[in-house]
Amino acid sequence: MRKIAILGLKGGIGKTTTCVNLGAALAQRGQRVLLIDTDTQANVSLALGIMDVKKSLADVLMRKVTAAECVLSARPNLDLIPSDLSLFKAQQRMVLEVAREEIFNELFSELTAYDYHILDCAPSASLMTINAVAYVDEVIIPVSMEMLALAGARQFLTYLRTISRLLGRGAAIRLIVPTFFDARRRVSAEVMTALKADFGDKVTHPIRVDTSLSEAPGKGKTIFEYAPRSRGAADYAQLADVVEQLPPLTRA
Ligand SMILES: Nc1ncnc2c1ncn2[C@@H]1O[C@H](COP(=O)(O)OP(=O)(O)OP(=O)(O)O)[C@@H](O)[C@H]1O
Ligand SMILES: [Mg+2]
Repeated sequence: MRKIAILGLKGGIGKTTTCVNLGAALAQRGQRVLLIDTDTQANVSLALGIMDVKKSLADVLMRKVTAAECVLSARPNLDLIPSDLSLFKAQQRMVLEVAREEIFNELFSELTAYDYHILDCAPSASLMTINAVAYVDEVIIPVSMEMLALAGARQFLTYLRTISRLLGRGAAIRLIVPTFFDARRRVSAEVMTALKADFGDKVTHPIRVDTSLSEAPGKGKTIFEYAPRSRGAADYAQLADVVEQLPPLTRA
């Protein structure tokens, strides 16, 4: 099973969009995917049109239910552990726990019937984010085509190294995904060039700006349901190809 976190400290760079549509693309190909929403904004369930969340990750963290009891079926092959606002309170309690950085490892260990666990993360350096890094083996970082987002990605790398040192283990940065790419804007080309200089062949093809991608979550649909012939659908399908074809991780 592959465990991947979609991470980045900057807000609005396409983390949730990537989590939902990468997960949906993989699920359509027959991969069994579990999305885990670790952000209090609870955007993953909204984007998938799931309004009636009774049990959330917060209940799992407060040991009211097991993670398996919290799993919702979102689409064929695509399950979800949703979030909600009470995650905020649960997070405050977690601070008091022993081994509080490794809680996801303990709570999700029974969820083995999947090919992928994909975690959506909040744009903050919170205990949730640290748990996500401690849980996954692979990290995908979306970077929007703005100079500030590029600076954010560099800061995030430093942060990730610090967490990895403290945890004594590091999740591998597998892919940098350029998002909101607009060929008409010079800044897009500039940020792409800078990303390639920094991260080399970890940088994927860009996800282009596409109104369909911004409309789909409002309809509770993935891009493949809302606009299957859109640029966004093509770009996320291609990203799923790249993720599937990544060589297995080798540990030093
Ligand atoms: N390629 C794109 N083209 C157009 N709109 C997009 C694109 N990618 C994402 N969006 C839209 O931009 C907004 C921000 O995207 P998203 O929610 O995925 O970012 P995020 O990094 O998860 O944000 P947050 O940090 O708040 O969790 C959303 O409304 C989304 O629908
Ligand atoms: Mg988000």
